[in-house]
Amino acid sequence: MIYNLAGLTIALFLGDIAPVEQNPFDAAFGVMTQDHGTDSPGCRGCHIGEQPAFGLYFGNTQDEVENFLITYDSGRLIDGGRDSVLATYLREGVMPFNGARWTDCQLEALYAWLDSLTSPYPTTIEAVSYSAPSR
Ligand code: HEC
Repeated sequence: MIYNLAGLTIALFLGDIAPVEQNPFDAAFGVMTQDHGTDSPGCRGCHIGEQPAFGLYFGNTQDEVENFLITYDSGRLIDGGRDSVLATYLREGVMPFNGARWTDCQLEALYAWLDSLTSPYPTTIEAVSYSAPSR
């Protein structure tokens, strides 16, 4: 009985911490938040920082930057997903201004986030379709 209770406690504890939600913006922000520079793909020091510096001010924290990019000017920067102003500027090397062009891998991280914004059914749709009977 004592063992069962201990097991239950452990199960509840693990159940509580196990499903770590990963934000689709994590990877793209990891690139953006690097200090800007000629060898850097980052935006920090221009658009990102503790206070506005150079160009549009995106914010400082990940949440601020994500929120800004999504909402600014009715979504003008992210509208169109992979064809958006943001994606096109980074793919074509217009931004980061005076910095390192994003690699394909870094662009994939950006696309994954943009796709997550435009998809009406983020991750659950596959699970639903698997349970449907097929013949
Ligand atoms: C050296 C400073 C600098 C760096 C680094 C930089 N930018 Fe910019 N960015 C500017 C300036 C200046 C402008 C033009 C003025 C403006 O519209 O804010 C601009 C414009 C933009 C615009 C167009 C805004 C609009 O209104 O259409 C986007 C999008 C953008 N930058 C994204 C980025 C991203 C994302 C990064 C990092 C990956 C980055 N920039 C890095 C200085 C910089």
